Amino acid sequence: MPAQILDGKSIAAKIQEEIGEQLVDFIENNCFTPCLAAVLVGNDPASDVYVRNKQRACERVGITSQLHRLDEDATEEDVLSLISKLNKNPDVHGILVQLPLPKEISTVRILDAIHPFKDVDAFHPENVGRIAQDRPRFLPCTPHGIQQLLDRYDIPIRGKHVVIVGRSEIVGKPLAALFVARESTRGPQAANATVTICHSHTENLAEITRTADILVAAIGQPQFITAEMVKPGAAVVDVGINRTPTGLVGDVDFEAVLEVAGYLTPVPGGVGPLTVTMLLNNTLKAAAYAI
Ligand code: GUN
Repeated sequence: MPAQILDGKSIAAKIQEEIGEQLVDFIENNCFTPCLAAVLVGNDPASDVYVRNKQRACERVGITSQLHRLDEDATEEDVLSLISKLNKNPDVHGILVQLPLPKEISTVRILDAIHPFKDVDAFHPENVGRIAQDRPRFLPCTPHGIQQLLDRYDIPIRGKHVVIVGRSEIVGKPLAALFVARESTRGPQAANATVTICHSHTENLAEITRTADILVAAIGQPQFITAEMVKPGAAVVDVGINRTPTGLVGDVDFEAVLEVAGYLTPVPGGVGPLTVTMLLNNTLKAAAYAI
């Protein structure tokens, strides 16, 4: 029997409805509307689409959004100066700098400059440290979205072996921290996993991935995870979005893995909508920190 598709789009819509309800209460009680400021540097077409999706989602739930565009040739000082203004602006509650930045600009310097209470991506070292210590201020958007998706499909995480392929700062590392934690926003059943992180230096990768109850592919290589790398019945989460001549594909060989896995996320329509949704959740949280 083919795997059950994990429909990220419909789960995201449900969570956005919940956020919309919380937002109505928030505005009624506090007499102001949360606001997200997005910073987009350069002309990367994919980043353009991602930022537009984030703004549309804000609109849908009733969060105010601003877009600050800087040219491809903007300097690091230009970006830092904009962030400094947004940090001081009391009408802006969340700040998001879309990555990747042009290569002349130091990503670390920019992300370090965002005020930790406005850091809705949870990329600032203070927020990363808090996640590592199991006392998060903001939860990282993609990892939190994956946790929500699995739990809302009643896929157990507690006690299970989660194998994450990819050790990025945005997905691999923070996801491991969330899954190994004692608690989650969905209760202890959505955490307390045994976690293995694999990467480009891992030996016998397929041997390890075949032991995964939950396999997360966050490598950035089209169709890297093949059917032979998946344990029958496993839940496979595909974080990849790769543009190929034949269209968008994930990091998982979808058609082949569909025949082996128990659950599988599609690309698009899997993890992506949840990332955007958890950003909205963090913006509401950031506005609450501003009270
Ligand atoms: N680029 C790819 N993913 C992300 C993300 O989650 N946040 C930001 N700011 N940029 C990204």
